[in-house]
Amino acid sequence: MSTWRLECGACGEEVSRRGATVCPSCRKPLLARYDLGSLDGPALREAWATRRGSMWRFRELMPVEDDEAPVTLGEGETPLLEVSVPGDAADLRLFVKDEGQNPTGSFKDRGLSAAVTRATLDGAREFVIPSAGNAGAALAAYASRAGIPTQLFIPEDTPEGVARRCEHYGARIERVDGLIDECGRRSAEYAERTGAFNVSTLKEPYRIEGKKTMMLEIVEALGWEPPDAIVYPTGGGTGLIGSWKTLDELRELGLISGGTRLYSVQADGCAPIVRAWSDGSADAPKWEDASTEAWGLRVPGALGDFLILRALRETEGGAVSVSDEAMRDGARRLGAAGIGACIEGGATLAAAEALRRSGDLAAGERVVLFNTAHVLTY
Ligand SMILES: Cc1ncc(COP(=O)(O)O)c(C=O)c1O
Repeated sequence: MSTWRLECGACGEEVSRRGATVCPSCRKPLLARYDLGSLDGPALREAWATRRGSMWRFRELMPVEDDEAPVTLGEGETPLLEVSVPGDAADLRLFVKDEGQNPTGSFKDRGLSAAVTRATLDGAREFVIPSAGNAGAALAAYASRAGIPTQLFIPEDTPEGVARRCEHYGARIERVDGLIDECGRRSAEYAERTGAFNVSTLKEPYRIEGKKTMMLEIVEALGWEPPDAIVYPTGGGTGLIGSWKTLDELRELGLISGGTRLYSVQADGCAPIVRAWSDGSADAPKWEDASTEAWGLRVPGALGDFLILRALRETEGGAVSVSDEAMRDGARRLGAAGIGACIEGGATLAAAEALRRSGDLAAGERVVLFNTAHVLTY
C-alpha cells in the first residue's frame, strides 16, 4: 500500500496532492514523502524480487495507490554492467547503469512515466515541456500511451534527427530562439494560456519519483550494499536528487546501512553546480553563455540547485567539470567496452578519472557511472 504526502523541499510546507506543481508559498520544488513507518522493509525487498516488467515493481515507494494503473512502456530494469576501462580509473570497480536501454533510449522515460501517470490520474488533458530532446521524446511517448497530446518547446539549434524522434511519438514542436531556460519560459506561458500541464524539470513532484528507481535497481543489483560512489551527469538534477532520496528511504526502511557519495559532473562550458560547490554556496547562480555539445548538460540554472548541493554536501560527495573533448573520449572508450554511451555518459567516465586523480575516489571503490541515454539518441 502506497501512501504519500507532498512537502516543499525548501520551506517544508505541506501541499495538497491533486494537480500539485511547485510550493504555492516559495515556488520551490515539492518532494513526495511516504509513510515509511507503515511499511515492512524486508517483506518489500522479497516482494520486489518476485516482480518483473518495469520500474513499477517498486510501486510501494512510488506515487500510485493500489487500485491505480501506471502509464508504462516497460521502462527501467536496465542492466548494471561492470566494466574494465584502461586509464586513470582502472583500479576502481566501475559499473555502468545503462539507461540507454529504456523504451525511448534514455533515463527520461522513468521520470516521465511517473509524471504522466500521476497527472493523467489527476485529470491532465494536454502536456507541455521544454526539452533538449530526450525528455521531449519520453514525454510524447508516455502521453501518447495515455492518449493525451504533447506540446514541446525545443532550442532552435536542436538537431533535426532529435526533433524527428519527438515527432515520431506524436509531439507538436515549436523551436525557440534561445536555450532551455527560454524554452522553459515559453512552456510556462503556454501552460498558463491553455491549461496544459507543465512537466518541466521539478515544476511537478513526480519525475524525481520515477528517476529514483535507478538507485533502487542499483542497490538491489549490488546485493543491498550501496555503492561507495556514483557519478551523475547533472543538468536539472532530478536523478541525483532522486538517488539521494532513495538512499534515505532505504535506510529508513532498514534495508541498507552506510551511504554512497554522490558526485555531479557538468561541462566546462556550463558548470553552475560545480562553481557553487567550489564557492561553498547553498544555491547556484545562473551560468551565462552556456555552451557544450552535451545537450542534456546545457542547463544554465536549475530550479533544484539547492537540493542538488545539499545532496552533494550531506553525502560527502562533490562536483567536477570536464571538457567536451574529455566527454567524447569517455564515450568512445565506454563504446570500446561495448556500452552504447552518449556524450553525457562519457562525461561520467572522464569525471571518475578526474576524481581518482584527485584522490576523491580510492582504489578498489565500487563506483557507478550513469549512461543516461543511448548513443543512437543523438
Ligand atoms: C542524456 C542526458 N544526460 C543527462 C541529463 C541531465 O539530467 P538531469 O536533468 O536529471 O540532471 C539529460 C537531461 O536532459 C540528458 O538528456
